[in-house]
Amino acid sequence: GTAQIGVTGLAVMGRNLARNFARNGYTVALHNRTVARTRELVEEFGDEGDFIATESAQDFVAALERPRRLVVMVKAGEATDAVIAEFAPLLETGDVIIDGGNAHFEDTRRRERELREQGIHFVGTGISGGEEGALEGPSIMPGGSEESYDSLGPMLEKISAKAKDGAPCVTHIGPDGAGHFVKMTHNGIEYADMQLIGEAYQLLRDVAGYSPAQIADIFRTWNTGRLDSYLIEITAEVLSHVDASTGEPFVDVVLDQAEQKGTGRWTVQIALDLGVPVSAIAEAVFARSVSGHADLRDASRHLTGPTARRLGADEAAAFADQVEQALYASKIVAYTQGFHEIAAGSERYDWNIDLGEVASIWRGGCIIRAAFLDRITSAYEARPRLPSLLADKSFAEEIAAAQGDWRTVIATAVTGGVPTPAFAATLAYYDSLRAERLPAALTQGQRDYFGAHTYHRTDREGTFHTLWGGDRTEVKS
Ligand code: 6PG
Repeated sequence: GTAQIGVTGLAVMGRNLARNFARNGYTVALHNRTVARTRELVEEFGDEGDFIATESAQDFVAALERPRRLVVMVKAGEATDAVIAEFAPLLETGDVIIDGGNAHFEDTRRRERELREQGIHFVGTGISGGEEGALEGPSIMPGGSEESYDSLGPMLEKISAKAKDGAPCVTHIGPDGAGHFVKMTHNGIEYADMQLIGEAYQLLRDVAGYSPAQIADIFRTWNTGRLDSYLIEITAEVLSHVDASTGEPFVDVVLDQAEQKGTGRWTVQIALDLGVPVSAIAEAVFARSVSGHADLRDASRHLTGPTARRLGADEAAAFADQVEQALYASKIVAYTQGFHEIAAGSERYDWNIDLGEVASIWRGGCIIRAAFLDRITSAYEARPRLPSLLADKSFAEEIAAAQGDWRTVIATAVTGGVPTPAFAATLAYYDSLRAERLPAALTQGQRDYFGAHTYHRTDREGTFHTLWGGDRTEVKS
């Protein structure tokens, strides 16, 4: 075969990825279950580069140069296993299967293990950036063996997004499921980021009294500063969009029930397993869940509570500045939590993930791309073993500067009855970490009281239990 790469699964992501490879000078073999899709791609975009359209698994595999590199772009789950079952028997030692879907990293670990026994490299790869990213340059998070990255890395570097300094937004994340784990956490952070932006919007609307168009302008201004990011940019676009059929702001005619495909939920499930407090991500997932409970919400609309006090024009402008501070502080905490999860996953699965590199390849192409990620990279470069982003001096200083406004904004939300679960969760996390003492000591006492679960003391080594039902002497256990 002569194709350097093959793509099977030509729905929009697969199609755009195939075109991206071709536009970068690679010969791309194409395969799709429904042959019409393959033909369509060649008819529409055949002049963008060299494509080899194939109509069977055998022809597809035969079209690839060795070691073969096949990108699988099908719906995560059973479809992926079906495609692997179809192709693996046709492959040879050293060939590489790349799964570019949003697979669960545990599935990726299993598939990698099974294929390794056959001498086939399985590269679970996170790809972020949506349809446009796939075509113009996504952020790419490949896992799998070192060896597979040797043959694949240069091609991925070519088709990936480039950060402002020209660096390709791809790196070998680590073995087996590391790439999909990092992509999962990327999406968890994406959920938190979106929820925080949503809460900022709601406050600007309900407390400051701004219209969606005015809020779009505020977001545009924020986007020129430290909050500069793709999500803020598209938020302004969505908020300024007017619905054609009603003339109303688009955001007012969309049903307010957020959907999800699962990666945010996984991020929280895995965080629970790893014991990592990702409260901002969890609140973001729960906020989508609450929004979707239409019956519950209908049954609850009569519940009493305050109505936010509308501010005058000057006050509103000052409040908007405070919301910017709050959003920034909360964002630092949300990313802190996400990076903690990656560190914990890396530790648990022995992946040896370079957290600074992760931040660095998220600077371009992906949904959470932001100027702010440069700062995270620098923080990890300065201290590779940084225990938490909040331990970084410059982030700590920024939070210190923002925190008066951060607290005011959350207090305003609380007294005004505006739900801000993610804002509140990030501040509670921050205050929990800085607390001299936590009520966890009382929790331990309660556990010991009702279940003799024992506790440790601050002043002596050992495990202790108090005879609560008896004379309350303390025994060492
Ligand atoms: C990306 C996106 C992508 C997907 C979102 C949507 O990085 O390009 O994250 O993977 O569109 O995960 O997820 P939900 O449907 O769960 O919001």
